[in-house]
Amino acid sequence: MIWNAQLYDGKHQFVSKFGEDVVGLLAPKAGEAILDVGCGTGDLAFSLFNKGIQVAGIDQSASMIEEAKQKYPHIPFFVEDAHNLPFEEKFDAVFSNAALHWMKKPEQVLGGIFKSLKTGGRFVAEFGAKGNVASISRAIIGQIDHYDHNQYPWFFPSIGEYTSLMEQAGFHVAFAEHFERPTRLEGVDGMRNWINMFGDVVMGAQTPEEKERIISGAVATLTEERFYEDHWIADYWRIRVVGTKK
Ligand code: BEZ
Repeated sequence: MIWNAQLYDGKHQFVSKFGEDVVGLLAPKAGEAILDVGCGTGDLAFSLFNKGIQVAGIDQSASMIEEAKQKYPHIPFFVEDAHNLPFEEKFDAVFSNAALHWMKKPEQVLGGIFKSLKTGGRFVAEFGAKGNVASISRAIIGQIDHYDHNQYPWFFPSIGEYTSLMEQAGFHVAFAEHFERPTRLEGVDGMRNWINMFGDVVMGAQTPEEKERIISGAVATLTEERFYEDHWIADYWRIRVVGTKK
């Protein structure tokens, strides 16, 4: 997926605002070396930097990393695929907010995170969980004949599934939580904007006309359930986990 970093920063800042909660779970201490996996345009990395953390950020999106470097030139940001992390025992903590659901080989990602941590280090993450954007996905997919479910772009695990994968990677699972976070999408075009930003990859290759038909059909289907006078509520579900490397 090619990310539009400006649209992301302008319309979807709720992503990094919610991330501040998960920074609380991370409980960073000044002087620690922390890696932000899927750092986007760098706002949470910057808030860690302001707490005296030696933070580095990686993201697969070159345009996001470009934007992050421009905004925060004093923080090291790298274009890297989290399925192939290049670090060995470098970090006191690995942190990730709203990114791991994009990575469809979680065993590989968790293996790389485990390898990146020093002994005694911790992995703290929040991302989309089982049930996340289920009604939105259903509405989009319902507009497409013979949808190929292998092309569905996201991994939204339950606690049982994900904590098992964490254990297989070597982690001691210290905490896990699965909770609903109804998420407000501002404006009468909020759902259309969301689908434009994130739903493209669900649809796969479509002509612009077909894409417009799918989006309009999906928005119409979702109106009764998710539209409230002047805004929309998206059905977000989150998982939060903490794992330690003993
Ligand atoms: C999420 O943060 O839950 C999310 C973001 C983009 C696409 C799908 C889910």
